[in-house]
Formats: sequence, structure tokens, C-alpha cells
Amino acid sequence: MRVFSGVQPTGNIHLGNYLGALKQFVELQDDNECIYCIVDLHAITIPKDPIQLHEHVLDVAALYMAIGIDPKKSTIFVQSDVPGHSELAWILTCSSYMGELSRMTQFKDKSKGQESAPTGIFSYPLLMAADILLYDAEVVPVGNDQKQHIEITRDLAIRVNNRFGDDTFVVPDGRFIKAGARVMSLDDPTSKMSKSAESEMSRISLLDDAAKIKKAIMRATTDSDGIIKYDPVNKPGISNLLSIYAAMSGESIESLEARYAGEGYGTLKKDLVEVVKEGLAPIQSRYAEIRQSQELIDVLKVGAEKANAIAEVTIKRVKEKYGLGIGI
Ligand code: TYM
Repeated sequence: MRVFSGVQPTGNIHLGNYLGALKQFVELQDDNECIYCIVDLHAITIPKDPIQLHEHVLDVAALYMAIGIDPKKSTIFVQSDVPGHSELAWILTCSSYMGELSRMTQFKDKSKGQESAPTGIFSYPLLMAADILLYDAEVVPVGNDQKQHIEITRDLAIRVNNRFGDDTFVVPDGRFIKAGARVMSLDDPTSKMSKSAESEMSRISLLDDAAKIKKAIMRATTDSDGIIKYDPVNKPGISNLLSIYAAMSGESIESLEARYAGEGYGTLKKDLVEVVKEGLAPIQSRYAEIRQSQELIDVLKVGAEKANAIAEVTIKRVKEKYGLGIGI
């Protein structure tokens, strides 16, 4: 199957990104044709320092490889290196409605309280739909927070197919995993772990050192009843720690509940610190090597060529359907 996904180059790539999305990227690459993008055009929906943006693009590319995405198996590239993304986004813009875009939760959240919301944030889902549809992707591995974006991508694909025929777009499916699809903030387990939260203690970034990992987990918000049980509604803090533990170690939540029955939260937290440290250590050492190497740039160049070759075919097909251009 053709798999496509992307991550924004915004720094602070954290355990939520890893467990919700990146880990799936690696698992899928052996049996599928995987294309993984660094979505820098999405990142500029909020003004970015150009030098920092460029560094973050390379950071994410290096992280992709450090977690185990193998450029011999998967295509890794930067979104803005393939013009088809912007081109298809415009075409999709002309098949979309203000109403459906205004209803997107991300738009509502990010524009709340602003006198005039940035157009980029409003049309963000169209660029994301273009990313996916450009590659005829069948499967899109993402965290739960992207569900609505996958839905609108499907709606757009079906709408255009109804007009021009089912051979216009492949209608994609999201792929969400059970443990890790929604990792919550450590200091406020009722909201999701995010790159942009002000508090450093809310997240564990993949490149955090041992001291930071320990501090954030040991200080994680829990409750006062002292029972280690998975119950996201009534015990969001402990449930979040259990699902991080399960996703990092591969042990099931049920088995963790049984193993820690009668233990205090401190014991669970201490063990989780070790599990997270051990899980991230090999990623961090590979990252340090790859980030410095010329190989990284070479991988992105080859990736962009491969991605462009696929994208050009789709753009040609879609332009023909719409009657655009002279067919060159
Ligand atoms: P981004 O960069 O915010 O996040 C990258 C991936 O991490 C997942 N994620 C989480 N998963 C579990 N728990 C969390 N707390 C958590 N926070 C983030 C996200 O669901 C995502 O899979 N719009 C996308 C990027 C994008 C994209 C695409 C993805 C652009 N085009 C095409 C797939 C296909 C985004 O902002 O992800």
C-alpha cells in the first residue's frame, strides 16, 4: 500500500509525535511504499524565523532517520521542494467551502480571540489534503488530533471523484494506534501534549536529556487516590503515564496494571523514567551522528526527486480532469 504522512518542522518533537505517528512510520516501511514529508509550508502558517525554520527542517529529517526510517526503503523529503503540493492545494481550494473549513477545530482553536485569523490557518486542511492526494496515498498514519483533517481529505477526494470520476483521487484512510494515539500533557493531562505549550514540563522532547526526562515524569500531575488503574476520565494523569509506558515498552496496559497493583505512583514513575530514557537513548545517539552528516542533504535531494516524479503524474492527471493547461 502507498503510505503518506508528515510532521511540521517546529522543534520540540515530543513523545506524542513519536508514539502517535513516528513509530507507526517505522513499522509500516517494511511492507508498504512509504513517503514521509517534512511539511515546511504548513509551518509558515504561523510566522517563522527563516534560519530557525531551515534548521528545524533538518532536525526533523535527522529525527526521521534516527528513529529508524530507512531512506533505502522510504522516501523522505521536504514539502516545499515539490511544487505539486501548492498547486494541488489551490485546485482543492476551488472545490472546497468556507463553511467546512470554518468548522475545523484547529481553525476554531487557533483563531480564537483574534480579530482577523491568518488565511493560512484557515486553508491549512486543503494543503494537508493536497499532500495526501498528490501521492495517491491509501494509508495515513497520524495521531488522533488529525482525524478531522483526514475526514475533510476524504470528503474532498469523494467530491472531486463524483464530478470527474473515481480515477481522479484515491480516497485515503487514517491509521491510528491504540496506545499513543493521544499522548496527554504531563502537567495538565486533560490537554494533549503539544510542541507549543509554554511549560517545558508538559512534554518530553525526543532530544531531552536524562535529567529533564526524570524531572518531567516525576513531577507529572496525578491524583490522590493512590490506585494504579487505567481510567482516562477519572484518572487522566495515571492513565496517560500507563499509556506512555505501554507504548514505549510494548507491554499491555492490563499487564502493567497487574504488575503495579498495590504499588505507589512513585514506583511507577521511577520505572517509567528508565523506560523512556532507554527508549530515547539510541535515537539520540543516532540523531547526533546523522544531523552533522552530508548524507542528510543527499537523502532529502533524492527524496524530493522521487516525490516529484510521483507528484507530476498526479498533477498532470488532475489538470486534465479540470481542463487546465495545454497538457504539457
Ligand atoms: P504535527 O506536526 O502537529 O504532528 C505530527 C504527528 O504527531 C501527532 N501528534 C500526536 N500524537 C499523539 N499524541 C499527541 N499529543 C500528539 N501531538 C501530535 C500528529 O497527529 C501527527 O500525526 N497537520 C499535521 C502535519 C501534516 C500531515 C500532512 C500529516 C501536514 N500534512 C499529511 C499527515 C499527512 C500536523 O500538524 O502534525
